[in-house]
Amino acid sequence: VAGPMVDTFGRTVRDLRVSVTDRCNLRCTYCMPAEGLDWLDRDEVLTADELARVISIAVTRLDVESVRFTGGEPLLRADLADIIAATAALEPRPEIAITTNGLALRRRVDALADAGLDRVNVSLDTVDRDHFAALTRRDRLDDVLDGLAAARDAGLAPIKVNAVATAPHGLDDLPDLAQFCLDEGYQLRVIEQMPLDAQHSWSREQMFTAAEVLARLQESLALLPDDNERGSAPAQTWIVDGYRDHTGAPARIGVIGSVSSSFCGACDRTRLTADGALRNCLFASQETDLRSALRSGADDEDIARLWRVNTWGKLPGHAIDDPGFLQPSRPMSAIGG
Ligand code: GTP
Ligand code: 5AD
Ligand code: SF4
Repeated sequence: VAGPMVDTFGRTVRDLRVSVTDRCNLRCTYCMPAEGLDWLDRDEVLTADELARVISIAVTRLDVESVRFTGGEPLLRADLADIIAATAALEPRPEIAITTNGLALRRRVDALADAGLDRVNVSLDTVDRDHFAALTRRDRLDDVLDGLAAARDAGLAPIKVNAVATAPHGLDDLPDLAQFCLDEGYQLRVIEQMPLDAQHSWSREQMFTAAEVLARLQESLALLPDDNERGSAPAQTWIVDGYRDHTGAPARIGVIGSVSSSFCGACDRTRLTADGALRNCLFASQETDLRSALRSGADDEDIARLWRVNTWGKLPGHAIDDPGFLQPSRPMSAIGG
């Protein structure tokens, strides 16, 4: 069989998200406990060669067009540039992006860009130094800001900043964060928090909604409708009147209403965890163990077939608002967001 992967709801997979490690060097309170989690053993994690093979199958046999590397924190992988280079060598060459906490960008971004990295999204929830330290349990705000500037210097564009609207300061820190992003030319996207934290402490009542976020942003900014085709993008975006991004394009700001206005109907994603499990959804309750297949001599066609079957079984969407909703057993940091 040739051609792209489809599911029973008529969606086509175009985008692969690869978690390259479950570890992280921050300890965001909405993600994991202070002591960290029970990390995967080294031999459980796919090697760079295994990743290169799986990505090659996705791109050359399954028509995946874009690859995003996530974590945990993807920059903790010393061989990330090799993995990116192998991805960039594929025909047709996919778009290559990472989602990172930005701590190591200053040190790493030039090598990554040379290897073929096109784009970076940086997680940053507040520009208040004390709030950042409390939220991430590390006093590293300056490193993130410096990392963002390094990505801009390296010519990556657009640079997106992901902010989870979260307690305790959530909406109150948004105006300053938005202003910082506008001044620096980054595209801020504010995200509704999803029930994916390791501590299972999420509650719908405490979640800031996209509507609340938008109302707060509009208090200080003039937002105009954005004519850009949204497609399968999670973010709904607005043009910010009077500002330009660092490339000179009209400045944009986005809200990701993952929970209240899910984009599942247009979902084009498939996911690979650091230990080699396929997930057809962030909230999937079942996975396909690719690693065993990879390590027991499966050929590329076998792997592609497993992937097609995994995709075929994709549910219509998350069921966060359903009464019987159960949070997936893997936390966000082990799925890759
Ligand atoms: P762009 O290509 O730049 O739009 O990246 P992205 O927004 O798809 O990826 P990113 O890693 O920056 O994720 C931003 C937010 O969207 C995070 O909170 C992700 O967890 C969330 N997100 C990404 N993909 C999905 C998805 O398929 N489903 C849901 N529910 N949330 C997603
Ligand atoms: N809900 C929504 N987004 C989250 N992120 C981390 N945890 C959550 C959550 N519970 C964000 C990170 C990162 C992206 C991959 O997901 O901030 O930017
Ligand atoms: Fe796709 Fe699942 Fe995310 Fe919905 S929740 S957009 S189906 S991955």
